[in-house]
Amino acid sequence: MEIRKVGVVGCGLMGSGIAQVSAMSGFPTVVREVSDELLSAGLGRIEKSLAKFTEKGTMTADQKAQTLARLKPTLKLEDFAGCDLVVEAVIENLERKREVFAALDKILAQHALLASNTSSLSITEMMTATRRRERFLGMHFFNPVPLMKLVEVVKTVATDPAAVEGALDFAKKLGKTPVLTNDRAGFIVNRLLVPYLLDAVRAFEEGFGTIEDIDAGMKLGCNHPMGPFTLLDFVGIDTTYYIAEILFAEYREKRFAPPPLMKRMVMAGMYGRKTGKGFYDYSDPKNPKVNQLL
Ligand code: 3HC
Repeated sequence: MEIRKVGVVGCGLMGSGIAQVSAMSGFPTVVREVSDELLSAGLGRIEKSLAKFTEKGTMTADQKAQTLARLKPTLKLEDFAGCDLVVEAVIENLERKREVFAALDKILAQHALLASNTSSLSITEMMTATRRRERFLGMHFFNPVPLMKLVEVVKTVATDPAAVEGALDFAKKLGKTPVLTNDRAGFIVNRLLVPYLLDAVRAFEEGFGTIEDIDAGMKLGCNHPMGPFTLLDFVGIDTTYYIAEILFAEYREKRFAPPPLMKRMVMAGMYGRKTGKGFYDYSDPKNPKVNQLL
């Protein structure tokens, strides 16, 4: 199955990134938001990221203009009508996602694929809102989408192998490396990453080291680009907490249970970079200072 035209539902952090890489890779791409305000914020994010590439010289001004010309921003789901693949990247709420998929199912041609970018919700549960069970899968991208090479392609017990091939092939055309996984909470990466991040919080609470020393330990000792607390602030403490709750509900294992400190930080609105405060304080974004939490 060949994908020629792509749709992305949601132009938030992930949706804008997915729409950007799709348009950068030559696909006419429809991207939809629920308000003009959210749409222009998303397009602004895309412009900014493309500008970084042109500044670096990895993209010409002409390529940037062509990429933007391939994007069709819209407020209407009906504009996805001619798409061969639609990737959903709306908020992580199962009911909202099921509503979007039920509506898309009626709009799209029969051959079209539907994919969700969810990080932890069940692909199978979303699939049952549609009548295209064989052509429904997960395509989980990583933040920041324009830089991160991985896409997890998630198949359910009902996904047709031809649909899996179509999704793997599309990910490769985006310049990404796809890995194939089954529909289990967390897929491959979050199944392993989230317990590690939760354990870093526990190690801090148990007095193994300061936030800065634990971060430096993992960054320099394991060559990770970011230590666990910098990564928690980057991904969002609220987002990680939410994913951990889903993993815990699925596996009922202690290692997936979010530690109390994390819950208190979420209650206090300390979500990390997006709210200016998490394990670090970003009042001066270029020079984050550790936040006094214990
Ligand atoms: N578009 C284009 N360019 C970008 C960009 C974007 N969105 N974001 C950053 N860049 C560029 C910067 O301009 C910079 O360019 P330069 O080298 O010419 O100066 C370069 O990328 C590096 O950026 P920074 O100097 O700001 O910072 P870093 O060197 O730390 O790199 C990073 C940033 C790529 C984010 C790196 O720190 C990293 O790989 N961190 C780990 C990210 C990670 O683990 N993500 C996965 C999270 S888990 C997830 O997403 C799953 C979900 O389900 C929770």
